[in-house]
Amino acid sequence: METNRKKYYITTYGCQMNLHESEKIAGILCEMGYELAENEKEADIIVFNTCCIRENAEDRAEGNIGALKQLKRKNKDLIIAVGGCMTQQEGYADKLLEKLPFIDIVFGTHNLEQLRPLIEKRLNGKKHVKEVWEKEGEIVENTPKTRTSYPNAWVNIVYGCNNFCTYCIVPYVRGRERSRKPEDIINECRSLIKEGYKEITLLGQNVNSYGKDLGTTSFADLINEIAKIDGKFRLRFMTNHPKDFSLELIEALKNNPKVCKVVHLPVQAGSNRILKLMNRHYTREDYLSKIKLLRENIPDMAVTTDIMVGFPTETEEDFLDTLNLVKEVGFSGAFTFIYSKRNGTPAAKMDGQIDEETSKRRIMQLIDVQNTANRNQSKGYLGKTIEILCEGYDEKRGKYLGRDVYGRMAYFSGDESLLGQFVNVKITKTGGMSLLGDVVKD
Ligand code: SAH
Ligand code: SF4
Ligand code: F3S
Repeated sequence: METNRKKYYITTYGCQMNLHESEKIAGILCEMGYELAENEKEADIIVFNTCCIRENAEDRAEGNIGALKQLKRKNKDLIIAVGGCMTQQEGYADKLLEKLPFIDIVFGTHNLEQLRPLIEKRLNGKKHVKEVWEKEGEIVENTPKTRTSYPNAWVNIVYGCNNFCTYCIVPYVRGRERSRKPEDIINECRSLIKEGYKEITLLGQNVNSYGKDLGTTSFADLINEIAKIDGKFRLRFMTNHPKDFSLELIEALKNNPKVCKVVHLPVQAGSNRILKLMNRHYTREDYLSKIKLLRENIPDMAVTTDIMVGFPTETEEDFLDTLNLVKEVGFSGAFTFIYSKRNGTPAAKMDGQIDEETSKRRIMQLIDVQNTANRNQSKGYLGKTIEILCEGYDEKRGKYLGRDVYGRMAYFSGDESLLGQFVNVKITKTGGMSLLGDVVKD
């Protein structure tokens, strides 16, 4: 049904945290009376929620914002707002406005919740509204949210990061660690389950740091509490820092069947020399012994990871250490990245930056090893019946999709009634990372 309501469109880059933040931006816009547009052309306000973790994330965002120049020329009332990690970088907002002067509003990660008054200022005639807070404010509760990821719901537990890995921009654009109060988190989870969400993903740059600033509740305590909420649902969390991955947490995972059987434990590198330069605070041996401890307690636990190649001074020998670690652990998934120099981080000033050709060769080798592992693990699924939470429809494949408790994606035929349901799927074909199967009725 066509209405006269004004419309919004949001483009999000980066991590799950940003996807969730876009749900808050959408919530604020809906509260102001906007409704979702089908595309940019229909929109009265277009928001870019950006990421700056690697250079290509920034380039893509700048390219896509730049491409709106024509639209803006045709429609003078169109509002273009840019926020997120990219704009939070020191001095970046001015540079962006110089480069793309048709942008109407620039805001940062620290004042996302205050977006409404910025839009109102623009609507009241101010040409450019630029407001990027230098420091993080108090945690804002009760920001409206328009969730877009049913049956999954993201829930923030800790904001910011104190770790200062030497390659990483996040601590500079997300501020220091701040934990939400346990009761606020638990109440949010409880209402989400009541509303019918079937999976909760707890979010933090380092979820293991949860509660350190509060001094009352640890991450393990929080898991134990959330898992007590009645109803059938899955509990996930992102991301763990290996240095803080503890036996207390492993026990909480073991004792709560609602917790998914997969942990994301970014290793970054397999060479002790590189791990030290990265300021990761663990060695290869520490990492491997934590994996061992985890598997002794929960033998079928899947582990996924993030790995980087081409960190300054990385030698062939360092890289082989990474490759061997990947083979040894047998990750059930890995996000692989080429190191990208981020201004303002200590690694950007290090000697021995690695040339692109070497990094590209290394990442291809790494991807190759991981792909083999993925294929082999997928093969193990053939003929098995697994429980999938149906979470969407893939237009291209013409199939419904969802993941099992280990995070493995499966595709199957069905109808809309399956969305948000737990279904049993018998696997008939396996590919690299994904599985194909048929729903079996019980
Ligand atoms: N807090 C998470 C990671 C968040 S960023 C953690 O500590 O594990 C997600 C991933 O991006 C990181 O794990 C890392 O592998 C990668 N990354 C971060 N900075 C990068 C950079 N400068 N270049 C390339 N990859 C980077
Ligand atoms: Fe970045 Fe390290 Fe913090 Fe992760 S833990 S966000 S990699 S600084
Ligand atoms: Fe996420 Fe990118 Fe920011 S990965 S925290 S959106 S820099």
